[in-house]
Amino acid sequence: MSRFPNRLNNRAEGSARPRAESEAPAQGGGRALPGLSAGRNILLAVSLTALGAGPVAAEKFGLGRPALPEEIAAWDLDVASDGTGLPAGSGDVFTGEEVFAEKCAVCHGDFAEGVGNWPKLAGGQGTLDHEDPLKTVGSYWPYLSTTWDYVNRSMPFGNAQSLTPDEVYAIVAYILYSNDLVDDEFVLSDETFLEVELPNADGFILDDRQEAEKHFWNPEPCMENCKDSVEITMRAMVLDVTPEEEGAEAAAETPAGAPAGDAAPVQDAAAEQPAEEPVQTAAVLDPELVAQGEKTFKKCKACHQVGDGAKSKTGPVLNGIVGAPAGHAEGFRYSKAMAAAAEDGLVWTEAELAAFLAKPKSYMKGTKMSFAGLKKDSDIEAVIAYLQSYSQ
Ligand code: HEC
Ligand code: HEC
Repeated sequence: MSRFPNRLNNRAEGSARPRAESEAPAQGGGRALPGLSAGRNILLAVSLTALGAGPVAAEKFGLGRPALPEEIAAWDLDVASDGTGLPAGSGDVFTGEEVFAEKCAVCHGDFAEGVGNWPKLAGGQGTLDHEDPLKTVGSYWPYLSTTWDYVNRSMPFGNAQSLTPDEVYAIVAYILYSNDLVDDEFVLSDETFLEVELPNADGFILDDRQEAEKHFWNPEPCMENCKDSVEITMRAMVLDVTPEEEGAEAAAETPAGAPAGDAAPVQDAAAEQPAEEPVQTAAVLDPELVAQGEKTFKKCKACHQVGDGAKSKTGPVLNGIVGAPAGHAEGFRYSKAMAAAAEDGLVWTEAELAAFLAKPKSYMKGTKMSFAGLKKDSDIEAVIAYLQSYSQ
């Protein structure tokens, strides 16, 4: 696994296109180099982790289990371009010819020239800048390690990983021979491996254009606050794709901003206590209710901020809102409806807030607050208590 960064580099290089090709874009026959698409998977994994959907989610939902050492070993077969990962062993061209005839020739032809539409493994040298380039191990692949790895990992087609290391060495020696890259005496082994340089080794360049992927290939990628500004174009809550109630609560079990250690006990306590507990008012706030309200406030957070340094965003800042006159946030552009209500002297008492939060659009026709409302009275109580804790 320590070879991982190495592999990333390989793949980054591999995802560049050969010079000859990039000068003449839009050609046919663009089959990707086998194994290189794995780069995409890595990217995907990185971006999922960045969204916080990685190991954290797995823990929360109790899915999966740690991989067994045997399972890791079965996947960890890769051979790097510097030969790292090659098992000890060797094979010569003649043995390779025999094994190839027996196990590969049905599809790839006796001389690796390909049968029908099955891939050709030999030939094509000097065709990369042609309109219809023939890409083979000999003409296109940059490193012999890819050939070894590919054959070892995935061939013969339909019976992958049935070859011994010696057979793989022999076959790869034979593929080299078929490409006129070695003579018939050649013996390929973990020791002679690096002696072979493929003709197109220099044909790959690092694609360092800004708009390409290079900036992703960073050994220490940014995982937090990586964008200066994030533009939100739609909200899951508005789209109504976010499961409410149970689902949302389970996912909110450990609120990101909650003081460590507080979250779990609070949840339990809340479950034991009947919801009709009297709401505490201003002076003494029930800390459990406030903590519960903090969770509920997650639904508001997309638009509202509270606390030190809070600002108006999509919705107005809510510090001091309980008991305050409506439309209290300086500089926020309220809807006409909210402005009119403010004009008429609406004050956000707990009762008014409760009514508003239960069904914003019915409570105030024309409000800009695109929020369906809180269904549970206990959530409303709790969120008001939470807002109150920022009102004192
Ligand atoms: C049943 C048919 C079949 C047999 C038998 C077979 N292959 Fe393949 N081989 C394929 C197919 C199909 C592909 C393309 C797979 C893909 O692109 O995902 C391929 C791809 C390859 C490639 C990559 C070619 C390229 O340029 O992309 C190599 C190298 C290769 N095979 C070697 C071997 C060797 C060595 C053996 C024998 C041990 C073997 N194959 C047996 C069908 C076969
Ligand atoms: C999709 C964004 C959005 C969500 C989610 C949202 N709000 Fe709002 N909220 C707004 C907007 C926009 C306004 C201004 C409404 C207007 O001008 O009509 C507002 C106004 C308010 C007001 C009145 C503020 C004032 O200054 O008069 C309160 C109180 C409020 N929201 C509380 C909440 C609470 C509590 C939640 C969560 C349960 C919530 N909102 C969820 C966008 C949102």
